[in-house]
Amino acid sequence: MKHLLSTADLSRADAIRILDTAAQMAATQSREIKKLPTLRGRTVVNLFFEDSTRTRISFETAAKRLSADVINFSAKGSSVSKGESLKDTALTLQAMGADAVVIRHQASGAPHTLAHAGWVDSAVVNAGDGMHQHPTQALLDAFTMRRHLVARGAAGAGGTRVAGDPTGQDLAGLKVAVVGDVLHSRVARSNVHLLHTLGAHVTLVAPPTLVPVGVETWPCDVSYHLDEVLAETAPDAVMMLRVQRERMSGSGAGGGAFFPNPLEYTRNYGLDGRRLALLPDHTIVMHPGPMNRGLEISAEAADSPRAVIVEQVANGVAVRMAVLYLLLAGEASTERAGLE
Ligand code: CP
Repeated sequence: MKHLLSTADLSRADAIRILDTAAQMAATQSREIKKLPTLRGRTVVNLFFEDSTRTRISFETAAKRLSADVINFSAKGSSVSKGESLKDTALTLQAMGADAVVIRHQASGAPHTLAHAGWVDSAVVNAGDGMHQHPTQALLDAFTMRRHLVARGAAGAGGTRVAGDPTGQDLAGLKVAVVGDVLHSRVARSNVHLLHTLGAHVTLVAPPTLVPVGVETWPCDVSYHLDEVLAETAPDAVMMLRVQRERMSGSGAGGGAFFPNPLEYTRNYGLDGRRLALLPDHTIVMHPGPMNRGLEISAEAADSPRAVIVEQVANGVAVRMAVLYLLLAGEASTERAGLE
């Protein structure tokens, strides 16, 4: 098989293979000539039915750095607005000879359908589907944690090892607090699975209204009290989640979650200077972006020296280069990576 659809599909060995390959890719990106010939003659289609800044640009950059041809497709301005189905869009891409399709879609499961319905022969990479999964975001988050908290010495970036196995491969022993709108977050779902696979311990922190049904089956702890979690667990990484206003309603009618009172939300769940001061010196502050500054994270926290938010974006290019390389650069590399 040949797709990356969910972090739940990745074994520890798969994940480490991707992170190690990403480290090799990152090393090439500090060279004067960043481009590699690896995917020359291959075509990567970015198929985005939902808005994106970081993920779309990052996949485009990654594919170009590997010398692939890139086609960017946005549902806005395409025949999707005339009612064209995912199937017919996929058949069109197949006719154009796509080797990989990177898909973001508002419907959970759309990448899985694209991969398994027989419409395309290409590798399918999930770039975010509904509230379900965003596997490359979780991989770039793990890559960032490994660089800062586990393998900094081994990776040559300097710093203090606080967790991880002796070879600096996994995240064993790392404590991660994931804070905010868990209900709507594919980033949270992807991170819970991947971080667990890599040996980290995750505590989700959210208001009761923004905790998903069934969370008790996830491999993590859940708390409603941010100050308690920061004080009692002393997390090595705090990952703030965006409040996804577009997936909420003002009234909570129709089954959607209520939009929380912003002042109350910030008071109880926002990361600000006071809460930063509760954290150990080595703790890093993460956010997948885009941020609601002043709501889930203050400017002081987002711009503090502990924040690795911009670095997460940079690491996204290396991680996506690794994923495209492992999926497209031959059967052997795909099997070694354990990608589906
Ligand atoms: N983190 C993330 O997925 O950002 P974009 O929506 O800008 O791609």
